[in-house]
Amino acid sequence: MKKGIFIAFEGIDGSGKSTQIQLLNEKMKEKGIRCYQTCEPSGGPLGSLTRQILTGRIKTDNRVIAAMFAADRLDHLLNDVDGIAAKVENGISVITDRYYFSSYAYHSVDVPMDWVIKTNEESAKVLRPDLNIFIDIDADTAMERITKNRFHTELFEKKSRLEKVRENYLKAFDLLGGEENILIVDGTKTPEEIGNEIWKHVEPILER
Ligand code: ADP
Ligand code: TYD
Repeated sequence: MKKGIFIAFEGIDGSGKSTQIQLLNEKMKEKGIRCYQTCEPSGGPLGSLTRQILTGRIKTDNRVIAAMFAADRLDHLLNDVDGIAAKVENGISVITDRYYFSSYAYHSVDVPMDWVIKTNEESAKVLRPDLNIFIDIDADTAMERITKNRFHTELFEKKSRLEKVRENYLKAFDLLGGEENILIVDGTKTPEEIGNEIWKHVEPILER
């Protein structure tokens, strides 16, 4: 059986990932492709625990935080109920809102990036995205979008942090560009323009 494809969307908060995921999902469904949409932190029990870090409900060491996101990621891949590795194996294409590059970018604000990469090594072995799509916007634009549409800002949604996170994404792409398929798109273009550019890169992967 032909495997599904695995696409990971990346970007700082408010970069337009949800918007583009919806557009890509619609296009894939139009083409009759079986498609599963998901996100990280996952909807599973480890994901809900991890979300309590984002709200400030759980406070712990930054290395523990990074390890919790990594554990949730492995569960997201491998659990028996809705693990995405089995879905891809069984011909279902999976689109995820965030994957391990989010960990490399967000956690290496506080802990060394090579440690975060090592902590996620098993996920990279189990399932590497056919394409990592980074929607690039600057922290000012992100802050404008976030504060316009949300009534509260979570722990990570602070401008100076987002600036560092964006820099870390670019650093991680430099470091891992040899082994990862990465598409960087200009997130300040219109949603339609961004969607078309993404489709130009996803369609050939589907035809492989
Ligand atoms: P994310 O999932 O990355 O947080 P969203 O897709 O929710 O981002 O987008 C954040 C906000 O920015 C939303 O209000 C959305 O309508 C808006 N938005 C998304 N894409 C664009 C774009 N290309 N140009 C302008 N605004 C956008
Ligand atoms: P969320 O509210 O789900 O959405 P959005 O992607 O639209 O901002 O936020 C998830 C937050 O979790 C986001 O600030 C990035 C952070 N995060 C990490 O710090 N590490 C990770 O490994 C992942 C997947 C997310």
